[in-house]
Parts: sequence; C-alpha cells; structure tokens
Amino acid sequence: MNAKFEQIANTSAPFALKAAFPVRRMDFKFQDVPKYWLGDDPASTHLLTALSVMFPDGERYFVDSVRAVRDLITDDPQLQKDISAFIGQEAMHAKEHHAFNTSAQIHGLHPESLERFTYNLLHVATKYVFRDSPKMRLAVTCALEHFTGTIAAQLMRRTDIQDLMQDETMKHLWLWHSVEENEHKSVAFDVYEKLYGSGVSAYLNRAIVMILAITFIVAAKFGFWATLMYRDGQMFNLRSWRKGLSLAWGRHGFFTEIIPDTWDYFRPNFHPWQHNTHALLDKYRTILGMTA
Ligand SMILES: [Fe+2]
Ligand SMILES: [Fe+2]
Repeated sequence: MNAKFEQIANTSAPFALKAAFPVRRMDFKFQDVPKYWLGDDPASTHLLTALSVMFPDGERYFVDSVRAVRDLITDDPQLQKDISAFIGQEAMHAKEHHAFNTSAQIHGLHPESLERFTYNLLHVATKYVFRDSPKMRLAVTCALEHFTGTIAAQLMRRTDIQDLMQDETMKHLWLWHSVEENEHKSVAFDVYEKLYGSGVSAYLNRAIVMILAITFIVAAKFGFWATLMYRDGQMFNLRSWRKGLSLAWGRHGFFTEIIPDTWDYFRPNFHPWQHNTHALLDKYRTILGMTA
C-alpha cells in the first residue's frame, strides 16, 4: 500500500499512563489515483470525495472544540492522554484528506476549493444557531463524531464497497481513517459527559444539536456531490446518478444501513461503545499492519 506509516505516540515506558490508542504518522502519495477510483463511476467516486472535502475543516473544528475545554478536566489523567491522542489522530486525518482533495485538482474537479464551505458552515452555524458556546461546540463535535464513527464502522463491515475501490491508496486511506475514528469515537462524548453530565439538560442539548448538525451536514454533502458532478460534466449522466444514489440510499445503501446506529444517539443512556467495534478494529489493524 502506498503510504509510509510511523507510530508517533503511545510508545511511552512500561507502566507509564498511555492513551488508549496511538497516533500514527501517515504520508500517502495520491498522484497516481485515477479520476474514478470507486467503481469506475463518476457519481460513486464523487459521493465519497464529497465526504472527503468535509474532513480537513471538520476535523480541525473537532480538535478546537475539545482543546477549548480540556483544561477544565483536572481529575482524569487517562482522559487527558486520550484527548492528546484524539487531537493527534484528527490532525493527521485533516492533513491526509487535504492532500487527497488537493491532488484531485489534476482532474479539474477542484474538490479542495469546497473545504472552505465546510469551515463557513460549521463556524456560521455555531455562531448564529448554536450560540457559539464551548458546550455547544462540543455537542456539535459529539454529534458529528458519532456520525463519522458510524460511517467508519459501516465501511469496515462493507467489503462489497471496499471491493469497488480499485485504487489501493484510496482503500488504505479510508480504512486507516475508519480504524482511527472507531478507536477514538468516545473521546469527545466522554469529555462532554465529564463536564456537563448525562442529565436531562445535557441530553436534550446533545439530541437537539444532533438533529440540526445532521440536517446541515446531509444538505452540504448533497451540495458538494452535485457540485463535483457538475464540474465533471456529469450532471446529466442519469445512469451514473442512479448508481451513486443506489450506493448511498438504496435498499442496502451505505447511508441507509447506518440509520439505526445513527438513531441510537437519541437514547438518553447512549454511549458510543455500546456499538462494539473491537472485533472490526482487530481485523483491520491486522490487515493494515497497524499496532494497537
Ligand atoms: Fe477523523
Ligand atoms: Fe473523529
């Protein structure tokens, strides 16, 4: 696979407190990725590229929201270690997806130019809809971390979708990101509950934010998808749209199948690890040659 991999954290001395998961430095080379790297199909490829353009600024928003409140946690050294590793992993995801988004310019699609819309969407929505408080920013992060963790688990389960990725670099990028999203999926949530509890007020806050955040993200994702199809001159390629829509929202669609797990977030006693993905993590860490 076309990536260097180096573990840069979680290698402290025996018995020293360690994060529950490591930070891995990645350096993918995207220059040989074909234009249509998923199913040799425009709409299927642009469906996932539209997700990729959300990651660089989305991940930085997650990092900033957790970093803004971490000093309030003074009695949980393990959580502090996990926050540091969470920040390291998300920073690496932002870097690598930005590198892919930039590399795709050679095909004239300019996905990197859409990253700014994600930044504006998150920051304008936070300011005017979510009243711009650290608590609300963290609730947005919890909601979107659940969404990305659920998507990631789905991608690890769906070998049929992995098989559509003819390009090994892209397959490695998505599976590496999927593993790490599941490794750190509870960090923001644990910080939220540590600081704001799990009572009625904290629950209603995170549930309402989830409804709004998902609405914004799904709308933006469709907008990015359509923009990439337009830039590619494929806007009226109905055959490709049918393939892409079926892949996303068909009976066994990528997004259709995550609805139940996404919905679980609305249970008052929800915690991300109620979705047990340890076996999936073990499987893909082995396949990708990662250390735990
Ligand atoms: Fe990430
Ligand atoms: Fe994440």
